[in-house]
Amino acid sequence: MERLPKIRTPLPGPRAAKLIELDKTYVSPSYTRSYPLVAEKGSGVWVEDVDGNAFLDFTAGIAVCATGHCHPEVVEAIKSQAAKLLHMSGTDFYYTSQIVLAEKLASLAPWNSGKRVYFGNSGAEAVEAAFKLARWYTKRELNLAFFGAFHGRTMGALSLTASKTIQKRHYNPLVPGITHIPYAYCYRCPYNLRYPGCDVACVQWIEDALFRTTMPPEEIAAIFVEPIQGEGGYIVPPPEFHERLYKTAKKYGILYVADEVQSGMGRTGKMFAMEHFGVEPEMMALAKGIASGMPLGALVARSDIMVWEAGSHASTFGGNPVSCQAAMKTIDLLEKGLVKNAQIQGEYLMRGLRELQGEHECMGDVRGKGLMVAVELVKDRETKEPACKWRNEIITAAFKKGLLLLGCGENSIRFCPALMVNSHEIDTCLSIFGEATKEVTG
Ligand SMILES: Cc1ncc(COP(=O)(O)O)c(C=O)c1O
Repeated sequence: MERLPKIRTPLPGPRAAKLIELDKTYVSPSYTRSYPLVAEKGSGVWVEDVDGNAFLDFTAGIAVCATGHCHPEVVEAIKSQAAKLLHMSGTDFYYTSQIVLAEKLASLAPWNSGKRVYFGNSGAEAVEAAFKLARWYTKRELNLAFFGAFHGRTMGALSLTASKTIQKRHYNPLVPGITHIPYAYCYRCPYNLRYPGCDVACVQWIEDALFRTTMPPEEIAAIFVEPIQGEGGYIVPPPEFHERLYKTAKKYGILYVADEVQSGMGRTGKMFAMEHFGVEPEMMALAKGIASGMPLGALVARSDIMVWEAGSHASTFGGNPVSCQAAMKTIDLLEKGLVKNAQIQGEYLMRGLRELQGEHECMGDVRGKGLMVAVELVKDRETKEPACKWRNEIITAAFKKGLLLLGCGENSIRFCPALMVNSHEIDTCLSIFGEATKEVTG
């Protein structure tokens, strides 16, 4: 029989409530928990809390558990590596797993020239490395990034981020020289134009306005761009956006840095989301899904660009042997079917959400690629007034019914389950999401 969510206590249950009280005393209050889930164990797309309630997880721990929670082969790879070598530090020593994983990632990177890989522990560290390498290589001081972008929270990555002011408040001054520009958010075009009639004017504006007035293009090191904006609302740009932007960058010797931290590792139905757009970036930042939940970040760069000298950048823990082995097994599983499954199940999920859109006026936009899918909620389809409160209430209502969802942007809900999700689990998700939406919006 197919598994269904099972809620056996009020939420939070007694054990969860106790732990949350303790958390309030001892854990940093800077975290943003949407609902009182206290996870105990996970398997595939299922998470059990400390009171024995079973939830269907369409968050995958923020798009991280690519192979599902605790995939037995990943767990075995971790155990076996842990028994052999836990740490040696790739900064000062060689070890097999880091070298072999670098070779594997280099072979996967969708461009023809040579590639090299830098390892860190997180998405922010991968972006931070790209930021430093772009400066090191070009000797240029300026950079471009996008409104709505999320690149991480360390000072360099945060400077590139333009997602929510709360992430920046009281942290200024940040790294100087970064200019943010509007992303191709066609549902709410910042220029009030319509695709395709607009002819992707948002890219042309960069040359016509920005490069003529405030930013000398020959002083720009890199453009940092998410192939599909993640935290900003799972925003899929039109097909020619990246190609045009890339051409503009190349005209002025500006590096193209793809932040694939959320969109990479099979999530969109291709190994890297930039493959949907036919562009070969010079650098690609990876993390999240790369090691099924073990901490790992990687910067893959063209080998003629990653030429910084010994000592110029490094990390004690980056490329830890256990994380590298988890990544090798994750990639193996992705290649053996999970990327394909993300494409197939993603289409199924999208079809289901579009059907629901016919029933619920508040579902203004349904968008995504593969299993990187979002619904943008509005008060009114005509005015597109953002339904921020409804968004939060729907997420809470779904939680109470045993479905884990996360928001993105200010009024969207993302659906980013593990890439091994099946159509029955998607049906269950759609049914609970539909009920929760009806309950909240009537
Ligand atoms: C596109 C993107 N880049 C970078 C990051 C930062 O990753 P981390 O939280 O692992 O530092 C995130 C995290 O959500 C992300 O979505």
